[in-house]
Amino acid sequence: MIVQPEDIIFEKPRGFLVLDGANGAGKTTLMHKLVEHLRRQSLPVLATREPGSTKLGQTLRKILLESEPDTVAPLTEVFLFAADRHNHVQKIIQPALARREMVISDRYYYSTAAFQGYDRMLDLHAVSTINSLAINGCLPDLLILLDLDPEEGLRRTKLRAESEGKDGFESESIDFHHRLRQGFIELARTCAEPVWVVDAEQTPDSIWRQILPIIERWSAAFQEVQRNCGEAP
Ligand SMILES: Nc1ncnc2c1ncn2[C@@H]1O[C@H](COP(=O)(O)OP(=O)(O)OP(=O)(O)O)[C@@H](O)[C@H]1O
Ligand SMILES: [Mg+2]
Repeated sequence: MIVQPEDIIFEKPRGFLVLDGANGAGKTTLMHKLVEHLRRQSLPVLATREPGSTKLGQTLRKILLESEPDTVAPLTEVFLFAADRHNHVQKIIQPALARREMVISDRYYYSTAAFQGYDRMLDLHAVSTINSLAINGCLPDLLILLDLDPEEGLRRTKLRAESEGKDGFESESIDFHHRLRQGFIELARTCAEPVWVVDAEQTPDSIWRQILPIIERWSAAFQEVQRNCGEAP
């Protein structure tokens, strides 16, 4: 469900936040700032990402991002992402939340739903069922969806690729990236959890100024829950 920032209410947040959106939208840039900001306040924060946060996931990430075009069937791709995600939830996200850490994930099931569900035109119901099994009810307190014109996203990733190389998805057509953007928005409208769609065209500083008050509210509500729960078991 899409929410406006003034309407975002954190009632007993579990401490799980997700940043998602297209390639080059600025997820990783924002993640670094968020983590630095929260750690400066001595808050326990775990920064993680998909795919590839577990040992198994690193192998899957390599397979997923480095496969030649048309060598992996679309539904196979969904299963591989789901295997990575399920292991990520079971071995990293849920244990960290149980230790009462704040968890921020750079991409989550939204990426698979948008990439494979909308772009590859698979059965949305099937993709959604596979995702539900993979996340096992582990939904974030808020998804921050960085929304960006695909041309700008590709321009940014091209600049970055000159130093770091690119992955298979960045080589897809511009139409693919336009469908992807629509997929993310459609998903934001229909999912149960709150989604804040942020205009990622802005400068990193301007995005940060917009995001900071929400993060402060999230972090205050999280700390309140921790105080009320007493010490971690
Ligand atoms: N708001 C912004 N305006 C302009 N450039 C930006 C902005 N945010 C990030 N960038 C630059 O764009 C490039 C992509 O940013 P970043 O790596 O954060 O995106 P990403 O969403 O994590 O991409 P990917 O999905 O490929 O991992 C980087 O070189 C980064 O410095
Ligand atoms: Mg990134």
